[in-house]
Amino acid sequence: MAASRLSLRGGGARGKNAASSPAARLSRQADALASAGRHAEADAAYRAALEADPTLGGTRNNHGNTLRALGRIAEAAGAYRAALAHGLDAALVHYNLASALRQLGETGEAEAAYRRALVRQPDHAEAWNNQANLLRDADRLEEAATGYRRAVTLRPDWGDGHDNFGSALYLLHERGAVDAAARLARLWRRDHPGNPVARHIGAAIAGDGAEPRAPDAYVRQTFDLFAEEFDSKLAELGYRAPELLAARVAADGESSEGGLDVLDAGCGTGLCAAALRPLARRLTGVDLSGGMLERARARQLYDALEEAELVAFLSGRPSAFDLIVAADVLCYFGVLEEALAAAARALRPGGRLAFTVEALEAAGDAPHRVATHGRYAHRAGYVRATLATAGLEVAVFDRDTLRMESGAPVAGLVVLARRPALSPG
Ligand SMILES: C[S@@+](CC[C@H](N)C(=O)[O-])C[C@H]1O[C@@H](n2cnc3c(N)ncnc32)[C@H](O)[C@@H]1O
Repeated sequence: MAASRLSLRGGGARGKNAASSPAARLSRQADALASAGRHAEADAAYRAALEADPTLGGTRNNHGNTLRALGRIAEAAGAYRAALAHGLDAALVHYNLASALRQLGETGEAEAAYRRALVRQPDHAEAWNNQANLLRDADRLEEAATGYRRAVTLRPDWGDGHDNFGSALYLLHERGAVDAAARLARLWRRDHPGNPVARHIGAAIAGDGAEPRAPDAYVRQTFDLFAEEFDSKLAELGYRAPELLAARVAADGESSEGGLDVLDAGCGTGLCAAALRPLARRLTGVDLSGGMLERARARQLYDALEEAELVAFLSGRPSAFDLIVAADVLCYFGVLEEALAAAARALRPGGRLAFTVEALEAAGDAPHRVATHGRYAHRAGYVRATLATAGLEVAVFDRDTLRMESGAPVAGLVVLARRPALSPG
């Protein structure tokens, strides 16, 4: 949340002489030091400028930004208030004050300051977004969603804004405000038909029928944004798919330890790599998200990492792998036929495919269903039938807990299947 800097305007002395006054010169020096990240020196220069002319509102605002950068948030709030008191009644100063107050936990005051910023500048997308963050944290989800909607209307290409909007709608739906969430989700899709998050999550929350699988652009955008905190977040959720699959592969007996061509399909940040490396002559990872792959690369456990769509990647590599592992990846596919058939063809005869999906246990006979968080769950019978159609034999088909979500265990299917040794190919 970047603070907004002001040039030497508003409040204080004005005119030609003001711009060349000693106070103005000191203030410009302070701005330059702050821009160079030399905040302690900037702090001293701002103080000197304000001693020379206490009425410089812009200088007080910029001093507030430097104080925030130094972690002196209460002093920063004081500086923004002083800027306002010296006549700099600008949206950006109210916005900066709101951000500092939010950091201080003074949420009521912060909300009022965001409101003042938005009255003065109704097209301030970041203020709508950050005010919505505050409302979301206070569990005022419908108001938050409405704020995020304003933010993405003003900045339609803002990935974080869409992501926040989707998360608020998800929470709203979870809390039982299903109709309100669906109404906002439909507006979201209508207003942003080209945005992949609006398209996929909007449809899931509105209950308007899912796509056969999550669009590639949605997957890429979602995981690029999530990449940095993926590992810590999944650790918090007790994510176990990599270890569950590794245990099934190890227990299967047939291991030519260290001699396999292994594909980590949808490798993400590489959470499966440590378990797969000892099995592999060559370990390849493939993923749609460049952000996730960057983290996988940092592990230095893969021989090759490819940024590609999984089915297209598999289709170009007939009989290339002895083992394909897809942990928590096929939950971004509703229809599994294409992916499982492509995996079967990419395996050598006798090769194995290990994967998890979320189990669809609700009554009904739909083979798969997309949930409001955008992942699909699959019915066990459908998974078995699709494996058979792809020519894969089931070696293991277990139910287990994949992770926690909203405090409840997520039931999954943990599957190991084999391409028959004498498959016709
Ligand atoms: C939940 S993460 C799991 C990552 C890793 N397998 C793990 O267990 O930590 C799902 C990954 O699948 C990738 N993914 C989803 N659909 C994909 C597709 N069609 N092609 C390639 N990668 C895909 C995403 O980019 C993401 O990195």
